[in-house]
Amino acid sequence: MNKDDFIGVFDSGAGGISLLKEALKILPNENYIYYGDSKNAPYGIKTKDEVENLTIKICEKLIKKNCKAIVIACNTATSAGAKKARTIFNIPILGVEPALKPAVENTENGKIIVLATDMTLKEEKFKNLYNIYKEDREIIKIPAPKFVSMIEQKHLDDVYAKNIIDFYLKKYKDDNISAVVLGCTHFIFLKDILFNYFKSKPLIVDGNLGTVNNLKRILENKDLLNSGIKESKLEIINSSNDDYFDDLYKYLLYL
Ligand code: DGL
Repeated sequence: MNKDDFIGVFDSGAGGISLLKEALKILPNENYIYYGDSKNAPYGIKTKDEVENLTIKICEKLIKKNCKAIVIACNTATSAGAKKARTIFNIPILGVEPALKPAVENTENGKIIVLATDMTLKEEKFKNLYNIYKEDREIIKIPAPKFVSMIEQKHLDDVYAKNIIDFYLKKYKDDNISAVVLGCTHFIFLKDILFNYFKSKPLIVDGNLGTVNNLKRILENKDLLNSGIKESKLEIINSSNDDYFDDLYKYLLYL
């Protein structure tokens, strides 16, 4: 392994682009491969075993393409497959999880909404997190799969998007919501619209920055941080080979 090797970032589709954007800001000298598994998306409605297998297969592909570290930029795949992937592969494999901790620690009272996929909310990783905080605060868990297809179809701030936001959140609109946790990387593209949606103007939190900072620390400790001055490379792969997704990923990346 050497410093010039790639950082692999993957998701079921376009959501992980939100993490890639953060990584490009914090680690601009690194080379990246982004893998969007649009052929198998969405992950949130599959079984845990299916998503675990997909996660392992994608890690294998990324390692064959010379990745020195992998970021599973998908809360669902992290819940289903990160543990097993870490037992199989000997490069750093990072994941993302709903940022409930910062939501609790940075707000004093009020309800906390966690938006994620069904699987993320049901799996052990989130359950453990929820159990830590459930006595302290009212935590409202909302599985929101329609947000995933909405982003994949590029509805970010139009009437269609507003109707789906109403569908999930209307009843909380005027409530005392102090934080909204975006527990799915797709939802991060809704950050501004969600902030403005609630009367209480809640703190909107996600786990991307924490994960990228962690990646930086790990690469530093392993002496794998690329501090070269050559322009960094970015390869974008989508498993469906459909140009629509390549265009979508690029659109979201440069948004
Ligand atoms: N971006 C995803 C996540 O963070 C997965 C969405 C899906 O494919 O259902 O959970």
